[in-house]
This record gives sequence, C-alpha cells and structure tokens, in this order.
Amino acid sequence: MAIGNLPNAADIIGTGVPRIDGSLKTSGTARYALDHDLPRLVHAVAVQSTIGHGRIRSLDATKAEKMPGVLLVLHHGNMSDAYRLVSEQSAGRTNEARPPFADDKIAYWGQFIAAVVAETLEQANAAADAIAITYDADDPDVEYDLSNFDGPRPSSWLRGDPDKALAEAPVVVDETYSTPVETHNPMEMHGTVADWDGENLTLYESSQGVVNHRNVMAAVLGIPRENVRVISRFIGSGFGGKLFPWPQSTIAAAASIKLQRPVKMSVDRRMMFSNVGHRPHTQQRIRLGANKDGKLTAIRHDFFSQTSINDDFVEHCGEQTPFLYSCPNLVVTTGMVRRNVGAPAPMRGPGAVPGLFALESAMDELAIKLNMDPVELRLMNDSERDEGTNKPFSSRHLKECYTTGAEKIGWKKRTPEVGSMRRDGKVIGWGVAGASWAAARVPCTASVELCQNGRVCVRCATQDIGTGTYTIFAQVAHAETGVPLDRIDVFLGDTGLPEGPTSGGSMVTSAILPAATDASKTAVKRMLQIAATTPGSPFHGAKAEHLELTAGLIRTTSQSPVQGVALEKGEFTPTRETMQGIPFAEILRIADLSGVSATGRTHPSFEDENARKYSLHSYGCHFAEVEWEPEMARLRVSRIFSVFDCGRIINTKAGTNQILGAAVMGVGMALFEQTHYEPQRGQPINGNFADYLVTTCADLPDLNVTFLDYPDLIVNEYGARGIGEIGMAGVAPAITSAVYHATGVRVRSLPIRIEDLLQSKVLSA
Ligand code: MOS
Repeated sequence: MAIGNLPNAADIIGTGVPRIDGSLKTSGTARYALDHDLPRLVHAVAVQSTIGHGRIRSLDATKAEKMPGVLLVLHHGNMSDAYRLVSEQSAGRTNEARPPFADDKIAYWGQFIAAVVAETLEQANAAADAIAITYDADDPDVEYDLSNFDGPRPSSWLRGDPDKALAEAPVVVDETYSTPVETHNPMEMHGTVADWDGENLTLYESSQGVVNHRNVMAAVLGIPRENVRVISRFIGSGFGGKLFPWPQSTIAAAASIKLQRPVKMSVDRRMMFSNVGHRPHTQQRIRLGANKDGKLTAIRHDFFSQTSINDDFVEHCGEQTPFLYSCPNLVVTTGMVRRNVGAPAPMRGPGAVPGLFALESAMDELAIKLNMDPVELRLMNDSERDEGTNKPFSSRHLKECYTTGAEKIGWKKRTPEVGSMRRDGKVIGWGVAGASWAAARVPCTASVELCQNGRVCVRCATQDIGTGTYTIFAQVAHAETGVPLDRIDVFLGDTGLPEGPTSGGSMVTSAILPAATDASKTAVKRMLQIAATTPGSPFHGAKAEHLELTAGLIRTTSQSPVQGVALEKGEFTPTRETMQGIPFAEILRIADLSGVSATGRTHPSFEDENARKYSLHSYGCHFAEVEWEPEMARLRVSRIFSVFDCGRIINTKAGTNQILGAAVMGVGMALFEQTHYEPQRGQPINGNFADYLVTTCADLPDLNVTFLDYPDLIVNEYGARGIGEIGMAGVAPAITSAVYHATGVRVRSLPIRIEDLLQSKVLSA
C-alpha cells in the first residue's frame, strides 16, 4: 500500500487507511473465541428455565448424568463452592449481579438453571434435554406500561422552577414517548472457551473489555489475577452487550476447574434474546414550555426505565437533556421499574439514543405548534455553555452540523405542510434531529517495540471490537516511526499486554492516541540513543538529538555538525551513508539487541485539571427522508444525511463506517426492532432472526456522512473525540418526524407500525 511511502508519515492521521486486520477477517484466518478448539476440549450446554417467575421445586439430573459422554451437571445444588460475589469497587463490573445457579429462584424466562458438560456437543445437548425439572411457578410481570409505578423517582439537574415556568408558558408540548426492549444482535454471539491447567485459567472470550473480564473472573473464582488470562483477539462486535462478563463465562470456568479440561460454552441466537442483555424499555414524558417566538422556557423530562428483578440498571435517558438546549428551568426524573426479564445492558448510545428520541421528537412537535421551522427552532435554542454543569464546552459546533445538513438535503425547498412534498408518485417527508454523546480521555498504557527484524510491535490490552482499533494503533506507530504499515504488528485483546481500556463509551480512540504516541516517541528516542552510543554503529559518537528516525531509517539531521568544522573539533562526522539513513534493524544487530521498547501512558481527563473545567461532548444531527406510498401503505427511509462534530477524525474510513453502521441501527430502531415478551411465561417470543426484524440491505436508504473535523485539543493532542455511539442518536426521531411530515401521523411509541400509518389522512400520492 502506498500509504507507507507518504512524504510525511504524520499525514497518515486523518486519512482513510484500510483495516490492517481486514484480510484476516475476509480470509477466515482471524480466530474468534469459539474457534479455539483445544486438545481434550469438552462442551457445556445450558438448561434454561421454562417459566418466567418462581422457584425450582425439583431438579433431577440422575438420568442425564448416566448418559454417554456426560462428565458433569452443574446446578444450584452443587455450584455454590465455585464462585464468590464480587464488588464493582474492588474487582470490576459484571452484568448479572446474581451469580449463575446461586439458588432455586427464577427471575426471568430462559434463566440458566443448569449446565451439562459432555465429550461432544451432541451428548451435552441430549443430556440437557434429559434433566427433569419441576417448578413452583408464579405469574411473571412483563407488563408493558411502566407508569403504574410507586417506587422512588430521584430527580437530577434541577435548575430554576420548571413547573412554574411550564404553567406560565404560552406554548407547551406535553407528550409521552416510549422505546421497546431492543436486543443486541452482533454477528458473533457470546461464548467462552475456558482452559484450566491446574494453576492458571485462560479464557477465550468475545469481550469488549478483557482487563475488566480478567479482574472480575479472578475475584468470582478466587484465583489471583496473575493466574487468569483473558484473550479476545477478534470480536464480531458487541454494541455494549459484551462490555462485562455474563454467566456462560463463570459456568465454563467453573466446569473447566472441576474437570481439569478445556470447556467450550456458547450462547445461541435464541439465548441472545433472554440471557445476555438488551436495551431496556423506556417510557418518557417530556414537557416543553416556550415563548411565542420559540425560546424554550422550561424542560421537564420524567422517564421510567425497565430493569430486571436482580439488577439495578437505569437507561439514563436524561443525560443529554441538561446541555443540549439553553433553557433556564429544567429537571430530569428517573424511575427504575422491575420486570421479570433478563438483565439489561448498555446498548449503543445507552441513555442518549432513547432519551433523544423523546426530546428531539418533542422539539419537532414544538416547532409544529409554533409554526416554526424545526431547524430554526434548534438554532435559536442552541446553548453557548453547558447549563447543566455550568462549564464551557470544549468544542461544540452543533449549529454548523444543522446548517451543513440543511444545505446537503436542500432544506430550503421543504414545504412544512403534511403530505405536501411529492416525488416520482410518492409522498416524501423530511425530518431532522440532533445527537450528542459524552467524550473523555480514559486511562491507557501501551508499548511500542522496534524489533531487530525491522518490524514495529505495538501492544495494548484493549481490544478491537470491529471498529478499527488495530488500524488506529498502526497509524500512530507509522506516524511516529515512518515504518510502513505492512511492517507494523499490533497486538491487542490479551490481558498479558499493557493494561488498556474497555471498548465502551466510544472512548478507546481518544484514550489510545496519547499512550501510543508517548510509547512511540520514547522508543524512537531510546533507539537513537543506542545508535549514537553503540561502538561500531555508523552513528557512534553523534549526539542523539542530531539523529532522526524517518521511514524506518536512522539518519543524521541537518543540525548535525558541518563536516569540516566537526573534523577540526574531533567530533562525529556525518557521512553520505548516515545522511541517507540506515535501517534501525541494522543498528540493533550491531548493538546485539533483540529490540528497543517503551511504554506510554494516557492520563485520564478526569484527573486533568484543565480538562475538568470543560464540558466534553460530541455533537451531530441527521436529516432523514422517507417515501410514503399511501395506496399500498409502503414506507421506506430513502435518504439520511448525517453531519457530525466528533473532533478530529483519525481514520476517515473507519469513522465513516461507525456513523453508517449506527444510522443502519437507527433505521432498525425506528422501523423494526422490538423484543416481545409473551405474558403467560415472559418468554421473548420473537427471539430469532425470522421474527425479530433488523435492517437488511433491502431496507437501506442512501446514507451520506459528513464530518466537520474540528480538533478538540482539550480531549487529547490529536483533538479526537468518540464516534461509535453517537451516530445512532437522533436517527429514530429524524425518521418519525419525516413520517409525520409525509403522513400526518406522529409515532411516539417505537417501532413505527403499518397500523400507525393507516391512520394517515394523506390518501394518495
Ligand atoms: Mo458501548 S454501549 O459502551 O459498547
């Protein structure tokens, strides 16, 4: 690839470098967790509860235990010695607070109640079916309406007097919006291969955070951290569902320890809907008060978020509300409502995505009430300062996102009347919504080694969940050493490497840049020192600061002493050879060193006094176009223009991919995705890809992504902020607002259904 020969290696930052791991994935050579078929491997299969609430009255495994190949059956009667409870403060975060098989209680349909381990997968499956279970069943509570709730309603972000301001406001919007349970459906499902050798435990996982996973599992199993290694070299994505360990990891590890053999346990697609997290259902009442000219005077955001029986999980829908708009009177309140469902988990843009569906839908409704353009309304209420924390923004260009997006779609041509825009025999509708997501610089260490074989090795125990982290590291190493990308090896996803961050919160890129840069610079400095001090080196006797490493070659710089003068003083004299450059590998050979390495560190923004003075967030917006054919009730999202202010973009290709993928998930949220719980047993009845609809290629609109590319130097020296989650925020409300514009139907409860659209009074195109 020509990139390696760029005149200035630093120019690689900000270009669209293809994934360095791309060919490993497309050729099937990348090994995922469950690809690790170790010698003597045995298989664990889960037995799931067929009731949604109650107790296990009896569990009889005697028949199963006698079946061919069966080695072990784990259940609440024999599991308790295998694990300990962990606290988040001392160990790390798990998804389910209750350890697997802790007691006879059933809190949700599909809960793992036993696991069978056998020589083959078929034997384990057959034995799992032979376990006889009886229950004392209670009615599960999977009631959809969350408002019938009398638990605590903590409030936050209170400023001014929102109730008084609402009572006095000449224009008020007061509506309730709801988003359903959505299930994470990455291509690669969860799974563990656990390998206990009598002293050390190795876990091959599909994890967004190997370091947290190691720390939690060490604590759960009572093994020193030093004896646990977690490996996730390739991950078929996670979207938040793989941030923290799930029970299959504990079960596989406990079985491996008991049997002294490697154990594989996988979570199948159906289990993805019950056992390993989901974005919880939310119900949000938004009240907006405004003057007749459109200036916001009050915002009340009262939301309920559903959680499981055992886990305190809140989908923080109000996180963006305090700073997105300027408004003197504001409050957010929360209600955590328990249902008999599995533990929720963060899912791409947790809080912001459902929260902004509600807030941005309400803003569109306010614009209509005011007879104002929805872009105008947002520009007029834009905030100069974070009024929630009373801090200045590090860098906010949301207004420019709106004006750029409006330009791209041709917003000036929009006529606001419902059903007034037509094209090619279809009614079209245009809608817009804003997006925001927090930025931070989380701690990270990474090492860079210049090796005697002429290659550069970069090492960090973060992981690439499919977003391009391998490539970002390689870009930095190339920028700092000039070594071509095909001679840079990046090692990630292994707790044996220097400690790196969890791939969560869209914070990895901004975290790894300082550490990787620091490590590269120090390694280069050490290399030059070796060149200058090693007897026999052509640079021997030179001052290290007069040497440089470019394109992988060490050479004398123009600052080196001029030949004649130096000779007189008996100093080092540059030669034609040292001016042209000598491969660093050559110097390492002369010095008889295998390599020279250095570790770099990223200091977190929360410990940085300057960064703490600012409100750190990314911003953006989506303009969506829908096509509505009333004669056949056919709705399509036809175009989305996304404009994002995420700081400086390090890799335009990977960055654009993030927003494209997020927009696709946003289309799914608007039109298709909902996990349905059947009321008698609480079973997710559409827990498969035939019944749970996701966006397919046939559903895809034309997608168009623009980055404003303003560096945010408060976050790090590259100016890069996060980019993964924000792209999903704002998609659904832009689409429902476009649907309103086309059909006159306001959908406040996602996903949009044909039944909703049949209410439209726009009867022909
Ligand atoms: Mo993200 S929901 O922190 O993977």
